Amino acid sequence: MEHIQAAVLHQFNEPMRTEEISIDEPHDGEALIRVVASGLCHSDYSVLHGILRSELPAVLGHEGAGIVEKVGPGVTHLKPGDHVIAVLTPSCGHCPMCQEESPSLCFETFKTMVGNTMLDGTNRLQLDGRSVRQLCGIGSFAQKAVVPAGALIKVDKDVPLDKVCLIGCGVTTGVGAALNTAQVKPGSSCVVIGCGGVGLSIIQGCRIAGAETIIAVEPNVAKRDLAMELGATHTIDPKAEDARKKVREITMLGTHYAFEAIGRIDTVEQMWGMIRPNGLAVVVGVPNPRDEVKLRVSGFLAQRSMKGSAYGSAVPTRDIPRFVDLYRKGELKLDALITARIGLEQVNEAFEAMGRGEGARSVIVF
Ligand SMILES: NC(=O)c1ccc[n+]([C@@H]2O[C@H](COP(=O)([O-])OP(=O)(O)OC[C@H]3O[C@@H](n4cnc5c(N)ncnc54)[C@H](O)[C@@H]3O)[C@@H](O)[C@H]2O)c1
Ligand SMILES: [Zn+2]
Ligand SMILES: [Zn+2]
Repeated sequence: MEHIQAAVLHQFNEPMRTEEISIDEPHDGEALIRVVASGLCHSDYSVLHGILRSELPAVLGHEGAGIVEKVGPGVTHLKPGDHVIAVLTPSCGHCPMCQEESPSLCFETFKTMVGNTMLDGTNRLQLDGRSVRQLCGIGSFAQKAVVPAGALIKVDKDVPLDKVCLIGCGVTTGVGAALNTAQVKPGSSCVVIGCGGVGLSIIQGCRIAGAETIIAVEPNVAKRDLAMELGATHTIDPKAEDARKKVREITMLGTHYAFEAIGRIDTVEQMWGMIRPNGLAVVVGVPNPRDEVKLRVSGFLAQRSMKGSAYGSAVPTRDIPRFVDLYRKGELKLDALITARIGLEQVNEAFEAMGRGEGARSVIVF
């Protein structure tokens, strides 16, 4: 057991406390990593505010990259010194979803993403003798983390971990939603509602897929500019204009694809009126999971469909190396997404800024 600094959430709607906690050795099938960098995702924000629930105390953070320090028994694909990105699915390989090649829906994520524990239902962190949960089985707002080894994907040592950490959640969620979930076709039209780290990654995915028209809907002017820099062809300020009407003006029939990347019910419903007959609306944002969506049935008669996207329908062993490669080729821009680099003790301020809609991604660099 060793001692590390971590940001610990004790109460919903209260700031996290940076304090010393203890961390165990990795058990069977797990690895201990030194966290080099971690992005801040809106899903952390939703847990902070009790919209997504977790047992507390907990260490949040699930967009991390680091260096392997130790591997537990039975881990053969990693060794100390390897550089890794932590991903949101442990990809067990034997549950029905993994067998159907949908590891983003792996049944083991009920333990890591809902229970916020390791695969055996226990945790490797303690504070004053109490067990501390790790968000998504990761908990990257800490100097070190023990993670199920299946959720660690090795990357080459020359890729900057303080940039590619974003591939751990937001980038894979967004680019994957366009390339895997929607399978955006060349020449098509897309609208993306919400241009935080996830929405801006969806825009990049649509550009990489060869979409001709990419409309970004976002109230923050700096993020509308960033959207244009990353591939959008049009922007809409939903505070100044009726977004649905404006999308119809630009595309006449509506778009082939729409993506919601905020996590609001009203904008999920709004997508239905933005897509054309045969169009596909993809729900990427995560509202309160108990909320309900209302859709007019006439949309189904025009063969419109709505689909969810979990972790960009990613197959991490295939997609993480592919996205790192796209970054290296300059097609996937990560540097532009990072609007603040911070220390662990600034994590609360950075989430306050996220709450005000400021900045695309903040990254904690350890
Ligand atoms: N499905 C998944 O697997 C998955 C994975 C990661 C994150 N998420 C979810 O994706 C969503 C986005 O995450 P993020 O980290 O990019 O969040 P973020 O807070 O960085 O970005 C949200 C953006 O929406 C904008 N916005 C707010 N109200 C708006 C409105 N009415 N119209 C248009 N834009 C508006 C904000 O200004 C902000 O830029 C969250 O709900 C998060 O929980 C889902
Ligand atoms: Zn996330
Ligand atoms: Zn599985």
